[in-house]
Amino acid sequence: MKHKLLILILILLLIPVWGAFSGQEQPSDKSSELERLDNTVFNNTRRPGAVFSHDDHNEKAGLDDCAVCHHVYEKGILVADESSEDSPCSECHALVPASDNRFSLSVAFHKRCRDCHFESGIGPTLCGECHIKE
Ligand code: HEC
Ligand code: HEC
Ligand code: HEC
Ligand code: HEC
Repeated sequence: MKHKLLILILILLLIPVWGAFSGQEQPSDKSSELERLDNTVFNNTRRPGAVFSHDDHNEKAGLDDCAVCHHVYEKGILVADESSEDSPCSECHALVPASDNRFSLSVAFHKRCRDCHFESGIGPTLCGECHIKE
């Protein structure tokens, strides 16, 4: 009898612990609070930083795969199932590319962002629709 009571008490004690683990949300660092892109890596910026409500944008556009933007390349080949969200685009895309077949940072951004809007027919494609005055 004493044993059964002990076991019951143990189970009751463990329920909240189990609940805390099983109900856990995705870790919060798996997203970004970004609302506007930081353009300070560019010299003498000519435009206000592009508006980009990171999480909201990606949810509305149905972009679950981080590597659509945060990709990883190895020896020039795109690596599947790997992403680089801890690195800013400027870590790999230089302002002035070292060789002709590399995209500059500005071209990389416009190719990624504007081309998808063009191709899908949704999302802004005009300069002033992304580079909105602060
Ligand atoms: C779909 C969104 C989008 C559109 C449309 C767009 N841009 Fe950009 N642009 C960006 C992003 C993103 C960057 C890189 C980060 C930043 O500057 O905000 C950028 C960077 C730039 C830069 C380099 C930074 C600076 O301010 O000097 C220039 C210049 C620029 N864009 C000009 C233009 C012009 C001109 C047009 C229209 C022909 C245009 N952009 C259209 C998103 C856009
Ligand atoms: C449509 C393109 C796009 C997609 C998809 C995307 N991101 Fe981003 N993310 C960006 C851009 C652009 C930046 C700014 C990079 C820069 O400034 O060089 C950024 C920045 C970040 C940052 C760091 C910046 C900060 O200050 O918060 C994190 C973390 C991040 N993204 C996580 C993710 C994760 C996790 C996913 C997938 C669930 C994801 N991103 C999907 C475009 C994207
Ligand atoms: C870890 C390094 C790395 C990071 C971070 C990175 N890229 Fe790239 N990206 C590359 C490499 C390598 C290529 C292959 C072509 C080349 O050498 O320029 C490439 C190619 C591209 C291309 C052309 C091919 C394609 O996928 O359409 C675009 C556009 C591009 N990157 C945009 C971005 C943007 C925007 C970001 C930030 C959200 C980013 N990249 C972050 C390394 C990187
Ligand atoms: C793979 C496709 C894709 C890529 C890549 C992409 N977008 Fe979009 N974007 C969309 C779609 C789809 C919408 C329309 C979403 C809606 O309102 O239903 C959109 C909408 C927007 C809007 C309008 C406001 C909003 O948040 O809905 C802005 C601003 C924008 N995108 C900026 C950017 C910038 C800056 C980048 C690059 C860092 C980018 N987008 C990359 C697909 C894309």
